[in-house]
Amino acid sequence: MGSEESISRKHSCQHNQMKYKLKILMLIVLSNLLTIYIFTGPYSYMHYPISRFSQLSTSPVFDSTTLLLKLNSTRDELIASRSQIADLQKELRSAHSLVEELVVQLSRLNGAIDQASNPTKFTYNDLLDDVSDEAKLAIGPHKLPLGYTPRMGSDEVYSSVGGGCLKHKEDLRKYMSYQVGGECPVDDVFVQTLMLKGCEPLPRRRCHPKSPANYVEPTPLPESLWSIPPDSSLIWDPYTCKNYTCLVERRKAPGSYDCKDCFHLEGREKIRWLFDNGGLDYGIDQVLAMKPPGTIRIGLDIGGGSGTFAARMKEKNVTIVTTSMNFDGPFNSFIASRGLIPMHVSVSQRFPFFENTLDIVHSMHVLSNWIPDAMLEFTLYDIYRVLRPGGLFWLDRFFCFGSQLNATYVPMFDRVGFRRLRWNTGMKLDRGIDKNEWYFSAVLEKPMT
Ligand SMILES: *[C@@H]1O[C@H](CO)[C@@H](O)[C@H](O)[C@H]1NC(C)=O
Ligand SMILES: *[C@@H]1O[C@H](CO)[C@@H](O)[C@H](O)[C@H]1NC(C)=O
Ligand SMILES: *[C@@H]1O[C@H](CO)[C@@H](O)[C@H](O)[C@H]1NC(C)=O
Ligand SMILES: *[C@@H]1O[C@H](CO)[C@@H](O)[C@H](O)[C@H]1NC(C)=O
Repeated sequence: MGSEESISRKHSCQHNQMKYKLKILMLIVLSNLLTIYIFTGPYSYMHYPISRFSQLSTSPVFDSTTLLLKLNSTRDELIASRSQIADLQKELRSAHSLVEELVVQLSRLNGAIDQASNPTKFTYNDLLDDVSDEAKLAIGPHKLPLGYTPRMGSDEVYSSVGGGCLKHKEDLRKYMSYQVGGECPVDDVFVQTLMLKGCEPLPRRRCHPKSPANYVEPTPLPESLWSIPPDSSLIWDPYTCKNYTCLVERRKAPGSYDCKDCFHLEGREKIRWLFDNGGLDYGIDQVLAMKPPGTIRIGLDIGGGSGTFAARMKEKNVTIVTTSMNFDGPFNSFIASRGLIPMHVSVSQRFPFFENTLDIVHSMHVLSNWIPDAMLEFTLYDIYRVLRPGGLFWLDRFFCFGSQLNATYVPMFDRVGFRRLRWNTGMKLDRGIDKNEWYFSAVLEKPMT
């Protein structure tokens, strides 16, 4: 508390000092302006007529009419000068009030910076003020039963929760409304939207998710990799389709869906990454061959749809974690049923891996020009972070416009510091050449040193 007061005193003192300095500055500017005005402005006639007067006075004939004329014009000039001075004063006054306004704004800005760097003024509890009791209980803080621990540097602990949750308190309250110990509401769609809005991670809940009726043991490996699971393996409420037949057949239905043919394992999924077309589409064998045999062992597939990349990599004895969102389809349930590791996180979240750990990161379609540039750059740095030295970033068909390719993305990827092992660009022609739509694919290596 004491330090807070002294900080605010210090700040008001700084503010006054600044104001004082600015006033002095104003005075100097004002007086200089006046001086300049007097010697170069309309008043400068003072020098010029004097010489004429002296000429006149040396003249033997004193012409009173000329003198009067001169006097008249001098008087007029004087009147004009006066009004000009008045104008100048007005302008100076407005400049002065502008400076005053600037001082006020500056001190306000100072206050904001002060508040941001001084968390005691802005507590977590204030933020949680009007969320439900259950939310508060979930998030904390909770006193540690064994007291202060140096590992945390604290005697209390908070549960992780996305900053965006606190921007959507009404949604958070709705999410945390359930019967403790009972069945959770089937609110997957709402919950995923909340995640995508930045409430990620969500707080934990004390309820049981609805359990599928007639659940049977999963299909064993390796058959599970290429099998459609039984419909009884999940809850269908959140999805338009109510069974796997519908999902598999969706590729023929009109309308656009994320990963429209991803559940059709006998179709395009079956041949993905098996062949290298020398252009945008690389083969898994060709990419793995860029490294000594067996050195690519663990990795991440960002936005991996139904998990086929992980399935193919598993066949190469490479373990891949697949992040996927359930965009009107049970992508996470499906990946798990295949015997692969699904991770329900969006592309916004910091990857939950330690630095210099993964051998490979793959991403297809998810990273593209829909992501704000700044956010994409942070994501690329995060990929760089989790890759081990010599690790590979396989970027599969990054979509953008021709105008963005060389202007935005090439410099951005170079900035992050990857080494290009392979790079291909190609035009996307299905919507017409005039759309100037492009893909680029790449294998980028994190440098060894
Ligand atoms: C000087 O100005 C006055 C009034 O403005 C006018 O009556 C007078 O005639 C002027 N004198 C000359 C010489 O122009
Ligand atoms: C699957 O669901 C669709 C509607 O989504 C329904 O028309 C169809 O009869 C279902 N098929 C099976 C095999 O349950
Ligand atoms: C994967 O590992 C298994 C068991 O170690 C081995 O038999 C198989 O040959 C490996 N497959 C590949 C593609 O390396
Ligand atoms: C990008 O730059 C490369 C090399 O300078 C050039 O060959 C290519 O045509 C450019 N691509 C686009 C889409 O402008």
